[in-house]
Order: sequence, then structure tokens, then C-alpha cells
Amino acid sequence: MRTPFIVGNWKMNLNKANAATLVQDIITGLHTSIHEVEVGLCPPFPYLERISKLLEGSPIVLGAQDGHWAEHGAYTGEVAMPMLVDVGCRYVIIGHSERRQHSGETDFIVAKKIAAALEAGLRVILCVGETEEQRDQGVMEDIVAGQLQGALVECFPDDMASIILAYEPIWAIGTGKTASSEQAQEVHEFLRAWLSRRFGDATAETVRIQYGGSVKPGNIRSLITMPDIDGALVGGASLTAEAFLQIVHQSAG
Ligand code: 13P
Repeated sequence: MRTPFIVGNWKMNLNKANAATLVQDIITGLHTSIHEVEVGLCPPFPYLERISKLLEGSPIVLGAQDGHWAEHGAYTGEVAMPMLVDVGCRYVIIGHSERRQHSGETDFIVAKKIAAALEAGLRVILCVGETEEQRDQGVMEDIVAGQLQGALVECFPDDMASIILAYEPIWAIGTGKTASSEQAQEVHEFLRAWLSRRFGDATAETVRIQYGGSVKPGNIRSLITMPDIDGALVGGASLTAEAFLQIVHQSAG
């Protein structure tokens, strides 16, 4: 049984004051147990420490949106994985399509970041997904399999206990065009079959695979009831407490 995992990825949004209000509203409105649904928030770097304090005593876990592959050193502007742990993060998103697209992140870099995150004791949310053009060309499976292969090249079955996948079709991110639950399920099933071949059936059965891309209160239920959809990575709808809480509560049970 895989507990659904709902994570808010705030991206580069909010300011210090409204970030704190949002967290407080989410904590106040949350009425599920950790056994029914696990909840995470990934604020921008400058707010992590403050939000970590606000989350103390709540079941919500803190994550970061990225981290660097080096443990420390001369990398101006970067944030190391141990620093994320230091400010209270338990998770880190790696390989988001926006980083692949705007920051030149390759599968090679993604693999190095995964190794650094696991070394630091963080759990990883590894994002994969195809463009609309790749889907139209019928190469979607090759693309996501290639991303998995590149990212997980150094990983062993035991590492998969600390890795969550997020399938985020690029054409559905921030566009309002959600993949239908059937379309998403088809890819999630493909990803799990890939994991089975690479790491064995038992491991593949335990790995959670989130869906991301225009997840909203109106579509979460049909997504989460699919057999291989184990949660959501939520962008825009995680920026208001009401929408995010509705998504969380509809994912429980
Ligand atoms: P939206 O929910 O805004 O489409 O963003 C999805 C996403 O990229 C989450 O990481």
C-alpha cells in the first residue's frame, strides 16, 4: 500500500509575509492523518528556514526545489544538499523540466544531484516528462525511459526507498491542459514497468509515482484513484490554502 504524497511546489512565487500566511492557513485547515496522505511543501530557498520553524509540530514535511551536486565549495549562487538538511528539509525536487529547460540541467547533472541528495540523507522527487511535440511524434516512452535511465544510472534497489518519481508532462505544466487520468495512468504504468525491469518487482511496487501538471481540486480525484498514481506535485494550485487543502483532502482514503 503506497500512501499518497501531495507536494506543493511554489516555484519562484510569494514573498516572506504571504508565504508564512499560506503555511499557517494550510496547517490550520489540514485534517488528515499522515497515514492517509503525506503532505510536503517546497518553498523558495530564502524562506526555507522560517517555514521549517512554522512547520514544527505539524505533519507537513519540508522540501527544496533544487540543490547542487557538490557538498561544498566555490559554486557561487548554489545551495548544497547538506545545507538543505541543515535548515530542516527532508526532500528535494530534482530534474524539474523548468530546470532542464531554463538552466541547462542534463540527465548527467540530475544523476549527480541524486547521488548528492541521497548522501546528505534527503529523499528525492525525481521529475520526468515529455514535450507536446515528443508526445505527438510518439516518442514519449523513449523520452521518459531515457530520463529515468540517465538519472538512476548509479542507483541500487535500496536507494529507491528514498526516491519518488513525478511524471510531469511538460505540455500540462501551468497550461491548464491536464493529462486525462487515463493518459497519466498509462505513463505511470510504463514507468513502474521500467522500474520492475531495472530494480525488480518488489522494489517497483513500493516506489511512489506522483503526477504533476495543472492538478486542481476538480481533477485530483480522478487522477488519485488510478492504480499507479500515488500523489501529485502541485504548482499553481498550491499557492492558495483552499485549493491545496482540497487537493490534499480529496487524496486521502
Ligand atoms: P502546475 O500545477 O502549475 O501546472 O505546475 C506543475 C509543476 O510543475 C509542479 O512541479
